[in-house]
Amino acid sequence: MPITFTSSRDVPGDAAVLAVPVLAGRVVPAGSQVELDLPFLEGRDFEGKLGQTQPLLADDGTTILAVGLGDPDELDLDAFRRAGAAVAKGAWKAASVAVALLDATPAAMDRGKAAQALAEGIVLGAHQFTTYKSTTKPSATETVTVVGRSGGAVVQKGLDRGARIGAAVVLCRDLVNAPARDMTPRHLEAVARQVAEENGLVINVMDEIAIASEGLGGLGGVAAGSDEPPRLIELAYDPPGAKATIVLVGKGITFDSGGLSLKSGEGMMTMKCDMGGAAAVISAMSAMPAIAPKVRVVGLAACTENLPSGKAIKPGDVLKIRNGKTVEVLNTDAEGRLVLADALSLAVESKPDAIIDLATLTGACIVALGREIAGLMGNDADLIAQVSAASERAGEPTWELPLPKRYRKHIDSDVADIKNIGAAGAAGTLSAGLFLQEFVGDRPWVHLDIAGPAFRSDGEDGYLAKGGTGFGVRTLLELVGSYRKPGRTSAAAGR
Ligand code: BES
Ligand code: MN
Ligand code: ZN
Repeated sequence: MPITFTSSRDVPGDAAVLAVPVLAGRVVPAGSQVELDLPFLEGRDFEGKLGQTQPLLADDGTTILAVGLGDPDELDLDAFRRAGAAVAKGAWKAASVAVALLDATPAAMDRGKAAQALAEGIVLGAHQFTTYKSTTKPSATETVTVVGRSGGAVVQKGLDRGARIGAAVVLCRDLVNAPARDMTPRHLEAVARQVAEENGLVINVMDEIAIASEGLGGLGGVAAGSDEPPRLIELAYDPPGAKATIVLVGKGITFDSGGLSLKSGEGMMTMKCDMGGAAAVISAMSAMPAIAPKVRVVGLAACTENLPSGKAIKPGDVLKIRNGKTVEVLNTDAEGRLVLADALSLAVESKPDAIIDLATLTGACIVALGREIAGLMGNDADLIAQVSAASERAGEPTWELPLPKRYRKHIDSDVADIKNIGAAGAAGTLSAGLFLQEFVGDRPWVHLDIAGPAFRSDGEDGYLAKGGTGFGVRTLLELVGSYRKPGRTSAAAGR
């Protein structure tokens, strides 16, 4: 059951927990409406660090949950997201929770945005992936009442938006966490059909026959080794009066064994996550009507397994992509770019104003940027700036990497137009980006390499749990909501 969020001046009578904000270095709650002095906090091991919590039993039996918001100078939207997760965990067993954290909103911060971030954090902090567990202890929280100084409609709108975005991120996490045995391309199609039906989106799916007849040779080639048929899923949100179209493209490898260029046992342990881009696109599409951007948004997910078999493509094989370009496959483990090549070619055909692709594309990106930051590349300075800014506001860190013309030679092939690997041990994330650029024509395009942040193997951190993180969903929803038609300057020019 999703949590219900309401904004109110007063603490509801049934609230078992009241969360109050404490800034680092102070032991009285920030803000004025909730008149509380917490002398009990003195002498305890609680310093108001961001995400730290301290429960205190009040005289009337309710629990006052002191929630650290950290250094007041660093109190940004992501701090509210993290504090939200701390509330969810600290109030796990309470059905009704009152939260006074927005009283600490800095003057310069939009209260609606703070409310949104808080709701996102609470929803994500309360979520667990338990589909395959026999015994579970789910959060008992049903209602969250945000109390304190007026903010009324603005706060309520932010809470609703945050709850909806949180639900989309949760969907993405669940899709990524589901084992590949169950999360096949056909299952992703079923999920997308349900998303379309529930949210009034138009859906079109190419099956293996259409994929072959429409010339999607990259997707068909990668799928050749698998008994599970591939799918190219398209979801469309088309509001009346839309003056721009954005296409979102996701890599949907439901399991990446590497194919004949087989990965190690260790290397494929987390490869159910290789549809994280497709999951982010489908999940973001699920929230479009609720977020109601003024632009048309089309989501494309290129879905297949990548397995070795007697029918699998072999190193040295040549595939023909939808746009007519031929690719020499020298490593079947560089499969993501092959399926994306077809999806990007399709995206270009409708002449959209912007294309954003998300893909768990290269291990090299983890080497370059680690497991928390996505690589960002593109061919249009304005669109790059918009996506970077959206990711910053969404709390999903990205870092721009170049697409250097001087490295284009890394993907020259002896027998085909290009090959699917770059120079050994050199700039693997950039050669993958340069490869994708061959299929976007003159359209403004940004590529997000989410190999690092899509999946967490380390323990939980704030609103991030182990496993699928849902990375990209919040950035996409933030971007479509704030999108402005970019100017046509080339970021890569001259490099
Ligand atoms: N799905 C992997 C990339 C990946 C690695 C994602 C680790 C998440 C965590 C991708 O298909 C792949 O195997 N890439 C190869 C490319 C190489 C063969 C050119 C890689 O990064 O090793
Ligand atoms: Mn691979
Ligand atoms: Zn892959």
